[in-house]
Amino acid sequence: MNILEFKEVSKIYNQDQAGIQELSFSVREGELIALAGPSGSGKTTALNIAAGLDDFNRGEVNLLNCSLLNLKPDEVLRLRRGQVGFIFQSYNLLPVLTVLENVEYPLALKRVRQAERMKKAKTWIKEVGLEGLESRMPNELSGGQQQRVAVARAMVTEPKIIFADEPTANLDATTAEMLLKLFQRLNEDQGTTFIFSSHDPRVLKFANRVITLTDGKLLNESAMN
Ligand SMILES: Nc1ncnc2c1ncn2[C@@H]1O[C@H](COP(=O)(O)OP(=O)(O)O)[C@@H](O)[C@H]1O
Ligand SMILES: [Mg+2]
Repeated sequence: MNILEFKEVSKIYNQDQAGIQELSFSVREGELIALAGPSGSGKTTALNIAAGLDDFNRGEVNLLNCSLLNLKPDEVLRLRRGQVGFIFQSYNLLPVLTVLENVEYPLALKRVRQAERMKKAKTWIKEVGLEGLESRMPNELSGGQQQRVAVARAMVTEPKIIFADEPTANLDATTAEMLLKLFQRLNEDQGTTFIFSSHDPRVLKFANRVITLTDGKLLNESAMN
């Protein structure tokens, strides 16, 4: 089953600047996909559109069997909170919340009761290797630790698909590799579909398949393993 489909999708920013142009690709459930391409090739634009964080001008996007064109904003929001996770290059943790509170937050938005929130958040903090750091503030953690908090926060709602925009860009090589191995493990154990962007060949090799963009268009797709 395809979990994500782009059909000739175009996004034009202000001043006629094209973000992506007639971009078509699809992702099957359970894949671990890398979106590659140089800076400005449209990776962020494509990921933001796919996750329902941004709109588009032409074409069709299907996410989890829903056409994003036909959804109202509150329906996109519900889909995103329920089944989609997003990880950012700059972690985007809430600075005034502890590690535990950051991870619990998506469940609070879904009105999950406190006891269950705590239990799930603690489980995921342990799963990403941060047990014991629950009461730390984000600024008391390394970049790699903050990104693992972001992974726990993305996984806590048990989404079907996680989008990660250059998740390793601010990490050193060893920490980046740990993060990618974590993606691989979660992909295998939980069946979560991952799509991460990067232009680093060392990062791309962790994917099952690489979709390469250039100037907002598809350059090629290649199976890795
Ligand atoms: N908010 C924006 N306003 C105008 N142009 C933008 C905006 N965001 C991205 N672009 C343009 O869209 C193209 C694709 O950008 P982007 O998706 O950020 O690429 P990447 O993530 O691969 O670096 C670039 O030419 C970029 O300048
Ligand atoms: Mg980008």
